[in-house]
Amino acid sequence: MSPYEFKISNLDLANWGTALRNLPTHEERTRALDALWWGQLASKGWLVNELEKYTMPGAPENIYIFGGWIGTLASMLFNSSIHINKIRSIDLDPWCETVADDLNKNHEMNGWRFKAVTADMATYEYQEDIRPTIVINTSAEHVTQAVYDRWYNRIPSGTLVAVQSNDFKDLATGEHIRCSNNLKEFKAMNRVESEYYCGALPTNEYTRFMAIWRKA
Ligand SMILES: C[S@@+](CC[C@H](N)C(=O)[O-])C[C@H]1O[C@@H](n2cnc3c(N)ncnc32)[C@H](O)[C@@H]1O
Repeated sequence: MSPYEFKISNLDLANWGTALRNLPTHEERTRALDALWWGQLASKGWLVNELEKYTMPGAPENIYIFGGWIGTLASMLFNSSIHINKIRSIDLDPWCETVADDLNKNHEMNGWRFKAVTADMATYEYQEDIRPTIVINTSAEHVTQAVYDRWYNRIPSGTLVAVQSNDFKDLATGEHIRCSNNLKEFKAMNRVESEYYCGALPTNEYTRFMAIWRKA
């Protein structure tokens, strides 16, 4: 299997289809389909495949995904070898909440094993009854350093952290406000501690960076 491939059950895939079909306008469907470009899917497959190596078989994990967008990464994690207790997918944009819940419908309906939440990562309060064991941020290029620092400072010590960013200064949307030019810069900007994994994934348009470490 390539390092970027991921598994998805036919039930979850059908839910992805339903979630996209439920969107009322062509514009919304196009917007959601942005999450399904090869680079987006490959970078999340890469994350899941690397993360699997640093989790204990059978140990139940509570995963918080920040900048979770429409919830594709959560679906992939549910289909991985990681033993999932709960996943929370946090995004600032309220539009993402229903789409992500629909994409992960069978997990959402299973006692909120999955739930999307609308909130700012800088101020998000972790659920007291769902202690985070893994915290993921694949939208690090979308936030200011001040927001990133506030988000990072709130992660409890001992938590496994996975962060992705890129070097794509996307002038068309202006949404990428904190890119890194290379892996060294990425590690410094994102406060990567002694990392378990650090690497780069080149795509046609940009390079994606990723690190996995345990917060001291
Ligand atoms: C385009 S998406 C995802 C990009 C990234 N390449 C990925 O694949 O995960 C970026 C998401 O970050 C979210 N976002 C931006 N600032 C945020 C914040 N302060 N807290 C939570 N989510 C935020 C946006 O609403 C958007 O859905």
